[in-house]
Amino acid sequence: MEEQRSNFSSRLGFVLAAAGSAVGLGNIWRFPYLAAKYGGGIFLLVYFILLVSFGFSLMIAEIAIGRKTKLSAVEAYGKLDKRFGFVGTLTSLVPMIIFPYYCVIGGWVVKYFIAFITGEAGAAAQDGYFTNFITQTAQPIIWLVLFMGATTAVVICGVEKGIESASKVLMPILVLLSVIVAAFSITMPGAWDGVLYYITPDFSQFSIKTVLGALGQLFYSMSLAMGIMITYGSYMKKDADLESSVKQIEWFDAGIAFVAGLMIVPAVYAFSGGDESAMNAGAGLMFITLPKVFAAMKMGTLIGTIFFLLVFFAALTSAISLMETVVSIVQDRLKWGRIKATIVILIASMAIALPSTLGFGIWSHITPLGMSLLDFFDFISNSVLMPIVAFLTCIFVGYFIKTKTISDEVKLSSKFKQEKLFVIVIKYIAPICLIVILVSYVMIGLGLISI
Ligand code: PHE
Repeated sequence: MEEQRSNFSSRLGFVLAAAGSAVGLGNIWRFPYLAAKYGGGIFLLVYFILLVSFGFSLMIAEIAIGRKTKLSAVEAYGKLDKRFGFVGTLTSLVPMIIFPYYCVIGGWVVKYFIAFITGEAGAAAQDGYFTNFITQTAQPIIWLVLFMGATTAVVICGVEKGIESASKVLMPILVLLSVIVAAFSITMPGAWDGVLYYITPDFSQFSIKTVLGALGQLFYSMSLAMGIMITYGSYMKKDADLESSVKQIEWFDAGIAFVAGLMIVPAVYAFSGGDESAMNAGAGLMFITLPKVFAAMKMGTLIGTIFFLLVFFAALTSAISLMETVVSIVQDRLKWGRIKATIVILIASMAIALPSTLGFGIWSHITPLGMSLLDFFDFISNSVLMPIVAFLTCIFVGYFIKTKTISDEVKLSSKFKQEKLFVIVIKYIAPICLIVILVSYVMIGLGLISI
């Protein structure tokens, strides 16, 4: 088995592919919103501290599990300790649930990119444009098929020829485009106050909610607890420096999130005349507020087009990592070839994606826990399954296979400089934080508390 497994050809390829997974819709629409909401600079500071401790340790653990076992998530846990085989199964459910609905949103991004490039930017800024679009039946499905098709085309080509090559092209372009949009945004008239609002710490806003918000965001943003980093780790060569790679992925992800804030916060701030409520979360910000901001901007159509292209690249590389994780799970379990596995997953994922998109239109009467179907899938995967998986992973590494197993794997390729930090976070700090996240997310989801 071991010799046959595909590999990333270079460490750079691995880092760019993993960063491609980490940098996604979460960095672009959720991070700026959270930073603006939770006191600007203070949120950035809390996020930074959690990134280099919590995020670092969990990512090291996942990549090392993958590289050690050379297996996907579904088999990796069980191979190291039979009693934990069920965690592999739980982890595998996460990308299977997320991939279909992530492609629905990816399809919306493609639609907006095409609208902007074909001169429909003005229409996209009108009230009702977004709602009118997502409540239709056929239109969103067409864009979903296009987005999922593009993802499949890369995954079917394999780890080196598909994922690594695509990441090497897309990620540098993504950085360049982000810098262009941010530079344009912060030099707009009236934008500077928005920049200050974004980076100046407002200590009065600091509370346990800041920490919770930052922790939840971090965990999702770094693509942890979805089996993705285990899968990508399994394609990493034994002599590639694991610790430095994790640091680079971390910085890439945080850097893009920070720049996304510079693209969005000042522009929205200037547009709304300092009205903070314009910085709403989720779909509303990206698909309703921003098109209005672009419509009011000089050269807004061009900047909007570049913006949606970069969001498309960010979403595509994340979707690729999700699909690849599912493909590797099916390949490991059923011993199928890549092409067969990819095609079967494409068909199954299309079928699972349909309820998410129809849930805004003809199926909008189906509202489990009071949520739209897309939000419901998102809730089950992100708020319930992911914290449980991450918690069990910490217990697994900290108390069953022991942190030494991971440290030994890291040390195959370099010294493990921050080993002490890693051990303390995995054994003591992360499990507690994850229980707090799980309980509070479920309570928020059920509407018992709000943050
Ligand atoms: N990390 C991605 C982001 O920040 C989210 C993601 C989700 C990536 C699912 C892959 C899979 O948007």
